[in-house]
Amino acid sequence: MKAAVIVGARPNFMKAAPLIREFKARGRVETLLVHTGQHYDGNMSRVFFDDLELPEPDIYLGVGSGSHAAQTARIMTAFEGVVERERPDLVAVVGDVNSTLACSLVAAKLLVPVAHVEAGLRSFDRTMPEETNRMVTDILSRFCFTTSPEAETNLLREGVTADRIFYVGNIMIDSLLFYLEKAESSRVLDDLGLAPGGYVLVTLHRPSNVDDPARLAGIMDALGEIARSVPVVFPVHPRTRKMIEASGVGIAAARGMRLVEPLGYLDFVKAERHARIVITDSGGIQEETTVLGIPCLTVRENTERPITIEIGTNVLVGTDPGRIREEAARILGGAAREHRVPPLWDGGTAGRIADVLERHFA
Ligand code: UD1
Ligand code: UDP
Repeated sequence: MKAAVIVGARPNFMKAAPLIREFKARGRVETLLVHTGQHYDGNMSRVFFDDLELPEPDIYLGVGSGSHAAQTARIMTAFEGVVERERPDLVAVVGDVNSTLACSLVAAKLLVPVAHVEAGLRSFDRTMPEETNRMVTDILSRFCFTTSPEAETNLLREGVTADRIFYVGNIMIDSLLFYLEKAESSRVLDDLGLAPGGYVLVTLHRPSNVDDPARLAGIMDALGEIARSVPVVFPVHPRTRKMIEASGVGIAAARGMRLVEPLGYLDFVKAERHARIVITDSGGIQEETTVLGIPCLTVRENTERPITIEIGTNVLVGTDPGRIREEAARILGGAAREHRVPPLWDGGTAGRIADVLERHFA
């Protein structure tokens, strides 16, 4: 059996790596690693190949940035040729980025079964580009591999039949647990002058937060306030850096904040594990902090990962600067809450996916 595994953007690499490792270990699936090139900066792509010990991509499409339609179309056009030439038995996509959608659509039209890893997540917010990507990918997928029970409910409601849904757990957590010990040897805290448990870690990149200068300024003000009482370190996503530079917001508010380049995987995991609080609008970071038991404030009005709120460490704080400051102060003041790790977020997800696929293709 030959499986094309698709990566394109930062959150794809830690989801694809366990699957590729599992396929290689079993020796029964030939993998073709396709990198669309949606993300291309060294610290958004190359570093993850090194940190996650990913093989070099077999095929690099080099599509780069663009509008949604332009980027999606470039990926589709380039990937169509790959599928026609390579004739994989399966196309495996992860997450909810434009590369996920584009490659699913190409495979579906060429009648190659699609496996979607991280299926069924819904924010019910159609203003998020990812929501469209998730819905379309799921409806096209022969295998919907889900991370949590409510994903199955979401899929059934949209007409995905039960025989296509497989609750296998969270593959991103396979990478987290696999590299947790190795990440401890990262020097990132020393390099940034941070003490374990003594800083707040921030990431922001949702267009709804960073593309609107007024909203971005409000969030930066709140972070600047928090930085008056505790060090705040903020690895800045390229979209966000562009917006900060373009609008000039946050330059003043950034006083006391450490704005740094995006971190590699091992450095980021180390910084996450030892943070006092993580403040983010990332999808994956809500999940990693739940497993690490680190309080997470999510700067959004909704989440497609409700389990991290129901049983994990995540709190939706919205985008109101006052609320962000208050919730951070509460945690810094010692407030703690009970939390549990969701079932099957245990490091064994890639194995369960490989079992399903091997049974099917046998
Ligand atoms: C993408 C995903 C988002 C995901 C995020 C993870 C879509 C629609 N969005 O958002 O779901 O959460 O990745 O990080 O797929 N840029 C660079 N260098 C890079 C990559 C991007 O400078 O290596 C800049 C470019 O100016 C580009 C902008 O960032 O236009 C946005 O990149 P894009 O991939 O379109 O979306 P992200 O915001 O990164
Ligand atoms: N991450 C990283 N360096 C950073 C920020 C994030 O390695 O500077 C990792 C993080 O640990 C997680 C993934 O990137 O594994 C999350 O990706 P991102 O926030 O870009 O996308 P999202 O999950 O929101 O789609």
